[in-house]
Amino acid sequence: MTHPTGSTRIAQHRTYLMCKPTHFTVSYRINPWMEPANPTDTQLAVDQWQALYDTYLDLGHEVQLIDPVEGLPDMVYTANGGFVIDGVAYGPKFRFAERAGEEQPFITWFRENGLTVVEPRETNEGEGDFLLAGDIILAGTGFRSTGDSHREVAEVFDREVVSLTLTDPRFYHLDTAISVLDPVQGPGGVERANIAYLPTAFDAASRATLQRLFPEAIEVSDADGAVFGLNSASDGRNVFISPRATGFEAQLRERGYNPVLVDLSELLLGGGGIKCCTLEIRRSA
Ligand code: ARG
Repeated sequence: MTHPTGSTRIAQHRTYLMCKPTHFTVSYRINPWMEPANPTDTQLAVDQWQALYDTYLDLGHEVQLIDPVEGLPDMVYTANGGFVIDGVAYGPKFRFAERAGEEQPFITWFRENGLTVVEPRETNEGEGDFLLAGDIILAGTGFRSTGDSHREVAEVFDREVVSLTLTDPRFYHLDTAISVLDPVQGPGGVERANIAYLPTAFDAASRATLQRLFPEAIEVSDADGAVFGLNSASDGRNVFISPRATGFEAQLRERGYNPVLVDLSELLLGGGGIKCCTLEIRRSA
């Protein structure tokens, strides 16, 4: 199959942080997906999570683990536990009290694992709202992380930050509406990224910004967005996506990526998918 560059996509080695959903349940509601009255199946959540973990290892990636804490059912969504670039971990400060207990365990894990921790002043939910896209950071606001946290993250990492505003409560974190597929070398050696996104999740100004910065982006349909198709991880070749995002799967194949289907339907009851369960640990420049 051919795609615009005509070349073969190369997988890059990744290190991810995950947390087994031993204590997973839905006992409160902080996003529209969560319905505490409905039952959850913790064993099914663990089995689905294990399949994602095994898939990462099978494809040659490294997965590190943080111990789950009883009473913190959302800790499985490690993407919200921080944002890590070049060995520096910017810690989380959660919007809702229900998740505040996760802050110290993540910060402690970063310290014990040799990362330099920057404790945040501003409310932010880590890689849920901050995505490294080549050299720049895409930063989401509207529901969780604040605009002040965007300024803070720009200082911490000394990088250009592009603020984007989310408007649909179903897509309350940036990683539910944008997927970074791989970095690409642009003119002058500047690294840009290939991304996929859900246009209807953003306000008009943010849509215009995305069109300007990423004219080649894959624009994903509402149907694929609604099954959390964009909540995916990528190593530059293999893109880990929900099996229900069939249109997105076809778009990825057309561009020469290899979609790898992993079903996390039980974890979607908490409002999270593949990317939410995956925090990238970038140790060196
Ligand atoms: N129940 C969690 C919350 O609402 C889900 C977090 C999903 N994480 C993500 N990176 N989108 O905070």
